[in-house]
Amino acid sequence: MVWIVIIVLIILLPFLLVIFFGAPYVPTFTQDLHDIFREIHLPQKAVVVDLGSGDGRLLVIAAKKGYTAIGYEINPILWAISVWRLRKYPRAHTYLKSLWKADVRNADLVFTFLNKIYAGKLEKKLLDEMKPGSYFSSFGFAYGNLELIKKHRANHIYKL
Ligand SMILES: C[S@@+](CC[C@H](N)C(=O)[O-])C[C@H]1O[C@@H](n2cnc3c(N)ncnc32)[C@H](O)[C@@H]1O
Repeated sequence: MVWIVIIVLIILLPFLLVIFFGAPYVPTFTQDLHDIFREIHLPQKAVVVDLGSGDGRLLVIAAKKGYTAIGYEINPILWAISVWRLRKYPRAHTYLKSLWKADVRNADLVFTFLNKIYAGKLEKKLLDEMKPGSYFSSFGFAYGNLELIKKHRANHIYKL
């Protein structure tokens, strides 16, 4: 019985701890993710990055469209699920790594669904690192210092 409790705690722990590093795991509806790609025009060989990529659902959509899809996820369970889901797509990759260490310099689109308290820190990283003309999509929360070009349901799309 004690072992079952310990195993359950080990599984739950990464889901609880992430609250202090970015956001808890709350998946975005697939339809909302498809909508992002309808709202913006990306180059054929675009690089799409999901900061806090969860189970990899955005990366699967991007990879199916032929884009290079890169995710950063610190929850090892979600990371493992996304590695499995992306196994058929050679241009897709998930790093078991903090999103604060992500390389977004080559990204054409960065997506995130993060807690609002990290907006200032993330905004600074994006403004410092992303190339002009690239897109940033935030699900759920607005970012005050970026140029909002579209808002569709809870998706805020910005142009750098
Ligand atoms: C709200 S969920 C969004 C998941 C996915 N992007 C989606 O839209 O379905 C936020 C994700 O970010 C991850 N996360 C939180 N802080 C992180 C950090 N510092 N580095 C990498 N991932 C992080 C969580 O584990 C969780 O999977």
